[in-house]
Amino acid sequence: MSDNIEQDQEVDLEEQQVLDAIAVELPGFSRDVHQLLPVLQKIQHTHGYLPRDSMVMVAAHFAVAAAKVFGIATFYNQFRFNPPGRHPIKVCLGTACHVKGGEIILENFTRRLGIEEGETTQDREYSLERVACVGCCALAPVVVVGEKIESYVTPSKVEGVITEIEIQNEIAEREKAKDEQQSDSE
Ligand code: FES
Repeated sequence: MSDNIEQDQEVDLEEQQVLDAIAVELPGFSRDVHQLLPVLQKIQHTHGYLPRDSMVMVAAHFAVAAAKVFGIATFYNQFRFNPPGRHPIKVCLGTACHVKGGEIILENFTRRLGIEEGETTQDREYSLERVACVGCCALAPVVVVGEKIESYVTPSKVEGVITEIEIQNEIAEREKAKDEQQSDSE
């Protein structure tokens, strides 16, 4: 329970830092309402997503209703409203991957991670999204985990993908703890 509270506080702090940075960046942008879309794109490019509160800030910057900014952002499916996870998982649903069962792979990740596409797990470890063809149809169905392409993914491989990430995380944490111990003893 207290782990969850700490996690929430950490996440709130991360989001607040993003909002603070956007507050600093916004005055540097044009106030011409034709620039509204490019400004949303810049925010997403810089921070990886559009926090909901940032759209209220953008609305104030352009002196338009917040509903207008929400409307524009949700009309274009290029925007994400949740922060990307440390391990973004992109399930390809281009034609070749779709034909080879991409939807079932996506469903398996949804169930395994307990999030829907477009969402991020509460601990920000994983985010899940569907993407169009990533250019390696011969390996379909394909999933991109971070920078790594997972090929010929089957439902049973989904668990293996997550387990591999968990093992890498554990190794990294042990190495970090070892380094901290070493620097404490020096
Ligand atoms: S359709 Fe998935 S890689 Fe081309």
